[in-house]
Order: sequence, then structure tokens, then C-alpha cells
Amino acid sequence: MNKIQSLSGYLHEYQKSVHQPEKFWSRIAESFHWKKPWDQVLSWDFNGPEVKWFENAKLNITENIFERQLFTHGEKTAIIWEPNESDEPALHITYKQLFDKTCQFANTLEAQGVGKGDRVIIYMPMIPEAAVAMLACARIGAVHSVVFAGFSSSALADRINDCEAKMVLTSDGNFRGAKNIPVKAVVDEALEKTNTVEKVIVCQRTKAEVHMEPGRDLWWHEAIKDQDTKHKAATVDSEDLLFILYTSGSTGKPKGVVHTTGGYMVYSQYSFLNVFQYEQNDVYWCTADIGWITGHSYIIYGPLLSGATTLMFEGVPTYPHPGRFWEIIDKYQVNQFYTAPTAIRALQAYGLDPITPYKLDSLKVIGSVGEPINEEAWHWYHDHIGKGKCPLVDTWWQTETGGIMISPLAGITPNKPAHASLPLPGVQPIIVDAEGNELKGNNVEGNLCIKFPWPSMIRTTYGDHKRCKETYFSAYPGMYFTGDGVKRDHDGYLRILGRVDDVMNVSGHRMGTAEVENAINEHPKVIESAVVGFPHDIKGQGIYAYVICDIEGRTEAGLIEEIKDTVRNIIGPIAKPDQVQIVSGLPKTRSGKIMRRILRKVASNDISNLGDTSTLLNPEVVDEIIKGAKTN
Ligand code: WTA
Repeated sequence: MNKIQSLSGYLHEYQKSVHQPEKFWSRIAESFHWKKPWDQVLSWDFNGPEVKWFENAKLNITENIFERQLFTHGEKTAIIWEPNESDEPALHITYKQLFDKTCQFANTLEAQGVGKGDRVIIYMPMIPEAAVAMLACARIGAVHSVVFAGFSSSALADRINDCEAKMVLTSDGNFRGAKNIPVKAVVDEALEKTNTVEKVIVCQRTKAEVHMEPGRDLWWHEAIKDQDTKHKAATVDSEDLLFILYTSGSTGKPKGVVHTTGGYMVYSQYSFLNVFQYEQNDVYWCTADIGWITGHSYIIYGPLLSGATTLMFEGVPTYPHPGRFWEIIDKYQVNQFYTAPTAIRALQAYGLDPITPYKLDSLKVIGSVGEPINEEAWHWYHDHIGKGKCPLVDTWWQTETGGIMISPLAGITPNKPAHASLPLPGVQPIIVDAEGNELKGNNVEGNLCIKFPWPSMIRTTYGDHKRCKETYFSAYPGMYFTGDGVKRDHDGYLRILGRVDDVMNVSGHRMGTAEVENAINEHPKVIESAVVGFPHDIKGQGIYAYVICDIEGRTEAGLIEEIKDTVRNIIGPIAKPDQVQIVSGLPKTRSGKIMRRILRKVASNDISNLGDTSTLLNPEVVDEIIKGAKTN
């Protein structure tokens, strides 16, 4: 179904998608089940922005996963679940079983007062119930917002408040490697700062003792007990919200990226099938967490809409040993494996010994996502995991794009190390200079924009449409601005260079510098702070904080630890700064703007060319900062 088979086929499809986008996408959309067809394929105005795909069409995305495919796929494994501990039995859940569980939980949600359009927060470990939770929301037309279960209670509370969630789905605890994380307590703490949540459903996973608030909290297994496993899917509009996913930007507060139903369905499935070249008996594994967009589009929706077998792993790559990923690949004969450069680099650091016991000969395709993959990691992954024979798909995309935008198609697009390569059909990238002039031809470098809508694109930022416009559609009017720098090389292949705004990419996680600064500034001794990213061997980027503080009554080392803990408590462990340098001032321009360029260079240990610092308001602090710099 709609699968490209060759390079000439790709080029042909690409041309069609640019010249007749509506015809192109309607042909692809026709293979799905719509309760009512669309009146118009696309209407759009990037100045609004207002984008509608498959206007007035009616559907339910879960009918496209289940009812549309049960006839052929009912007994096929939908989800293989590999638990944190390798000696705990794995689960193989068929499409029919997943359908029953989804329907049963859809009935449960409705019985607990959740209806169409209501927002449901999912703060859960990587267990099959998390997938069931997402699908059950979609089944009844509720809007899910998955929050990565490593976020702190205040980050969770912010998200609950922003989308005015009615329900939270969580667990009694999370097994993550050797840790048993008490997530229910985090939810309880978050709910003290919110007032919209009526019910909390708690899935039993670790059997840890947890507080259950009478009248508010219910156990998952008890809540589903009397619910039917049949459920009539709600009818939703193509442009009704499917989910909200919060992500960091260059300003302080994370924003709720809104994805709607019809376009997201079509694009997540189409991109999955084509990038990974999935074949019907393959076992596909994406190691992301469902708390990120990669988990949404390429563990759950894309694969399940394609009738694929998708593997879901609860644990971490190094537990109980650094060969765990490779063990799992052999155990289930995984054919497509999709992970992040940070995981590759972390595992590369263990050398080849952890790989030697495994054959890895089932692999046909390996993939990378989340950050630029450096050439060394690319070659290591390609040679030692892909054994030099598997195409490596370096997939560039974003929470906002909903699906993979620029990537080789496995086995079709010639591989070029560290290059995301070519746009998928329907994706029209454009490289612009700082003034927005198009940089045509090859051998050019600039900012990456997209000039034409694609079906799974962001529609708005929840509750604040102006912010959506300002963030993505204002820098270069009439275009979607990605925030990434890009180079088109002499062959016309694209290489993503990384963020050009104040967004860091730490272990593949997006983190706004302002968000970390806001957290640091919450510490009572902190007067002002500036955060920048610096190159980090494993994480891609590390977090470096320059902090002005009142040190009285503290030791410097003690204060630095307190500041790190403050960030951990306010955002979560992923945002904890790697380096904190206490300074007496920050380099500022005469208009009071922090010169981040200088701070970035010092943090990166690259002080040979700091540029002209004489125009600064306080040039003397530069020397002090250089002297006190933490070496990484
Ligand atoms: C970066 C993750 C280089 C990029 C799907 C983007 C990449 C941000 C790649 C989005 C890649 C993602 N090569 N950089 N293959 N994939 N990025 O929203 O900077 O978590 O803007 O989505 O990650 O991160 P997000």
C-alpha cells in the first residue's frame, strides 16, 4: 500500500507530490477508512497560520488500526512487550487482544466521565497499558497528552494546568534499570497545584505502596473489571485534536504542540512504511519513550496503522548489561531498529565486547533520530550493528512536524554518512539566509524552512495561537521555520547542522535555555543566570550554566549542588546542568542583552576567536569567566 520501491519511484512520487499535492495526498488517504470523505483535501494560509487537511472528513483513527485490519491481522502480534528485567516474561499482544483492551479502556474512560474533546494526561511507564491508554483516548475522541514520566511534579502540574486536563493516567511506580521510581507520589504532588483533574487511574506495575485519594484515585484493574470489550468508536472530524505534546522552545514555558486526526494518521503511516520499508512479517523496534513524539508516531500510530509488529521496551540500554539492546534484537529477530545517536554513543563507549555474543543478523534497516549523528557514531552504528549491510536512515523531524520529514528511504536512497539526505514526498524544504532569501542550488548553508503544508504539521500551540504564529511562522513570513540550520551539499543532499535558536539538544531531548534559566532563578540565592549548550561526547550537548549569586553563608561547591538540584526538582533529571560556574557578572551589550555567543565559546573551550568584546558594557567579566571556566 503506497510503498515506494525504487529511487526512480521516489523521484517520480516526489515530483507528483510537489506538482499536484492534493491529488497526491488524496490518493494516499483513500486507502484508509473514512466514515465520510473530505470536501477538500487542503486549505492553507501560513500567515494565520491556518491549515486544514481532509476538510470535513469523519473518521476514527483506531478503526483504521483495528476494524480496517482485523480481517487480515487479527491474530498477528501488534505489540511485543519486553520488560525491564530480562527474566520477567515478555508479552505478545495480538491486534485482536489490543483491540479488546482498547475498547474496554475506552468504556472505562467514558464510565469515569471522560468524553470527546476532554484532555487526558498520560504519565506512565513503557508498559502496554500506556499504548492502550493512548488508543482508548483516540477511540472516544478524547485528547491525550503524554508527559514523559521522568518530568518532575511541577513540570507535570504546568502541563495539566495548561491543557486543563480532566484525568491523569499513571502507575504505582516505574521500573527503569535498577531504579524503582515512585511516580504516583509525583502525580499526587502535582495535583496539589492543579484543580481540573477529577479522576486518576493508577495501573499496577511495581506493587509499591501508594496513597490512593478516596473519590479521586482508582486502580486500573478494578476500573476495567466490569467494562465491556466492545466499543463503538466515536466519530471525529479530520481536524479534531488527536493529541497535545509539550515541547521546549526558545522562550521559557514549554508549549503544547497540537496535532489533529486525519492528516496525522495519513502521514505517520505513510512515512513509517516508506522510510523503514516495513514488510508484513517484520518485527520493528523503536527504542524511544512514548513521552516523546518519536514514541507517538513510530512506536504507536505509524506501525499500528501499518499492521506492523512493534516492540515496546520498558527498560534502559545498559541494564542489566550494556548488551541489552543487542540481546533483544536477537531474541525477537528484530528487522528494523530505530534509536538515538546519544544511545549509540553511550553504547559505543563500552567497546565491542557487549556486541560480540550476538548475531544481529535479522536486522535489515537501522535508524537514527533526535539529533545530528556525528560521522564517527554513524560509522560505528553502520559497521558494528548494521554489519555494513543495513541501510541507515538518519531521520530529521520534530515534535511539530508530526512525522519524518527528511530521511533516506531504506535501501532506496543511497546512504551518505551523517546526512538526512532527501525530503519525503510531500515535504518542500527551503534554505534561507538570515533575511529570508532563498539559497538555491548546491553547496549552500542556511536556515531550514518548509514552504508548503504537509498533513501531520502542527496546527496550533494549545490555548495560544499567537505563540504558534510567532514561534514558527513569523521569522520568515509565509514559511514554517524549523529552528534548525542545514547544508545542501554538492550532491543536493541535506545535512542538518543543529539548532540555530536557544534550544539545546541534550541526549536527544529538547531543552530551551530559558526554561533551564527560569528553573535556576527559582533558587533563592540566584540573582541572574545564563545557560548555553556545549559539545558533549555522549549527550551531543551538555548544559552549562553561568550563575550570578549571593554566596553568603554557602560554600561555592555546596551552592552549585543546590542549583543543580533545583533544576532537577523543577524540570526533571534530564535538565540538570552538567556544569555550573558562579560568576560576578554576565557579558552584556550596551542595550543589556546577554552575549551568548561568548558564553557558548567559553563553555565549548573555544576561546581563540571571541570576536570584538570591547563594545560590551562590562568587558572585564570576559576574562574572569575564561579564568573560572569549567573544563569539560
Ligand atoms: C533535532 C524529535 C539532526 C533537530 C523527532 C530538531 C535532528 C529537533 C534529527 C526536534 C536528525 C531531530 N538530525 N537533528 N536526524 N532529528 N533533530 O521535537 O534540532 O524532540 O529541530 O523531535 O531535534 O526534536 P523533537
